[in-house]
Amino acid sequence: MSSGIGNKVKIQLFGQSHSRGLGVVIDGLPAGEKIDMERVTEFLRRRAGGRNAYSTPRAEADVPDILSGLVNGVTCGAPLCAVFENANTRGADYERLRAVPRPSHADYTAHVKHSGYNDVNGGGHFSARLTLPLCFAGAVCLQILERRGVKVDAHIFSVGDVKDDGYGDGIGTSINTETENASPKDADTQTNAARMASPPFPTLNESAGEKMKAVITEAAKRGDSVGGIIECGIWNLPVGLGEPIFDNLESRLAYALFAVPAVKGVEFGAGFASASMYGSEYNDPFYMDGGTVRTSTNNSGGILGGISNGMPIILRAAFKPTPSISLPQKSVNLQTGEDTELTVTGRHDPCVVPRAVPCVISAAAITILDFLETARI
Ligand SMILES: Cc1cc2nc3c(=O)[nH]c(=O)nc-3n(C[C@H](O)[C@H](O)[C@H](O)COP(=O)(O)O)c2cc1C
Repeated sequence: MSSGIGNKVKIQLFGQSHSRGLGVVIDGLPAGEKIDMERVTEFLRRRAGGRNAYSTPRAEADVPDILSGLVNGVTCGAPLCAVFENANTRGADYERLRAVPRPSHADYTAHVKHSGYNDVNGGGHFSARLTLPLCFAGAVCLQILERRGVKVDAHIFSVGDVKDDGYGDGIGTSINTETENASPKDADTQTNAARMASPPFPTLNESAGEKMKAVITEAAKRGDSVGGIIECGIWNLPVGLGEPIFDNLESRLAYALFAVPAVKGVEFGAGFASASMYGSEYNDPFYMDGGTVRTSTNNSGGILGGISNGMPIILRAAFKPTPSISLPQKSVNLQTGEDTELTVTGRHDPCVVPRAVPCVISAAAITILDFLETARI
């Protein structure tokens, strides 16, 4: 399915950056789930542009129009369809891109794949504007997960060379236990200091956050952009989520995460650092914790054999620098077949990472709810 994901909870995105609107259909949600729209709107605000110096100046109202699937704010079992208006568009910014593709954006591949009929305005269907309906689906899934005691959160792990503290192996990080159905046992296992990052620039270490903002501001001043990493944690999952071989939990999380534009790498637990470790350092020792099997370290990031092992899932997604920069770049003219130079105009994020945090949370939440709902059958 193109622009769709999910086995039981199926999500279909539609629309373009400059089309009249865009949206999402979520099929397979459990019925009887109350969805707090104020919290949905609050979550969507985290990815909205036009609100600070670190993001695109393009501001949109981003108010979901719910066409179906909710009755008195409660899921009714029918597909939930939400649409959003695109009101603040500027097609003229994209006119030149019809012939001259932006380096490292999807303009060239979309042009070839769709025989030149692709919508270039704002990046068309490849625009990060499509992360708005993705985040709507994420916000809905998050509320259902929370009711089951599962928490998903994320923070900016790095921008350029500046690093945040990080969740480490996730042990000792905590989650908000004020969920409707969290059992006392859940609360026990969630432990210790609650180090959750707060929007709009979520870092665990405030001074690292200030340095990151300075890096973004400085790149923007030069007409450049900068990349970074988002770290995500998923707490309180049962043991056993994930199927052997292809439908394993790492594959399915990565599958969803790579749908977020500009993601170029995903790692779990110790990730790429594992490659330079010895087994004696890396292996997570098991121990009994009052009848529950736990591990005292979590280099595996909560996943063994592609199956959740009951420890926090810790993953990181690497984002490339925003392709649209205002410095002159080399490109080609697809109409004349000549080399040329391009200076991108328009409104762009100097760093996609701050706005991508809710996108990463959403990709994770959608995947986890799909697994949990599939397991319920
Ligand atoms: C939240 C978010 C905001 C983005 N903002 C921009 C932007 O303003 N300008 C731009 O050129 N790319 C932006 N991107 C990245 C492009 O959408 C992406 O690089 C492009 O679609 C090509 O896809 P790829 O990088 O996955 O290959 C953004 C990505 C995300 C996740």
